Amino acid sequence: MNAIIIVHSLTGTTRKFADRIAGKMKEDGYSVSLTQIETDVPITSGSTRSCAKFSITNLPDITKYDLVLLGGPVWGFSASPVIIACINALGDLQGKKVLPFVTMGFPFKFMGGKPAIGLMSRNAAEKNATILPGFIVSKLFHDIKNDMDKAAVLISSLLKPTQWQNKNSIT
Ligand SMILES: Cc1cc2nc3c(=O)[nH]c(=O)nc-3n(C[C@H](O)[C@H](O)[C@H](O)COP(=O)(O)O)c2cc1C
Repeated sequence: MNAIIIVHSLTGTTRKFADRIAGKMKEDGYSVSLTQIETDVPITSGSTRSCAKFSITNLPDITKYDLVLLGGPVWGFSASPVIIACINALGDLQGKKVLPFVTMGFPFKFMGGKPAIGLMSRNAAEKNATILPGFIVSKLFHDIKNDMDKAAVLISSLLKPTQWQNKNSIT
């Protein structure tokens, strides 16, 4: 399976998570590319409800990938506007499996993590993707490095076709 990880990260946390996922997937024999989304103007704040105008300058061509992992930070109790713009710009996702993942500051998933995964999943589903369970890691009161490593192991094992077909979300 040919996989790409597309990540938005302002301060590096979600990028670290993406790197750990990529590392584990490579260990398990997947071919994985990684793109960190860049914008024409710096986007350092905002939300999906209100954000400065920007364009993505390095949108990857995902034609050859059947598995697309999409990651971003939680902003304003939901997904970052940058990863949502990226999903919307990717074009038709028919025949692709999409797995969303986020990092967040607050300790509880309802404080942005779950809504972010929900929004990313809905937007990708509207573009005809098959949606896989999403993953959330939190900073406050958590051992985030350990949680990232555990999630990376789960993600890599979940991506085996026999694993994802009948699973419910484990966010
Ligand atoms: C503009 C902005 C809004 C944020 N809003 C939330 C939020 O609603 N809930 C939350 O848990 N963390 C929030 N955070 C914290 C980030 O989600 C968290 O620090 C994340 O790990 C940063 O990821 P990054 O280093 O990849 O940018 C916010 C951070 C920023 C910059």
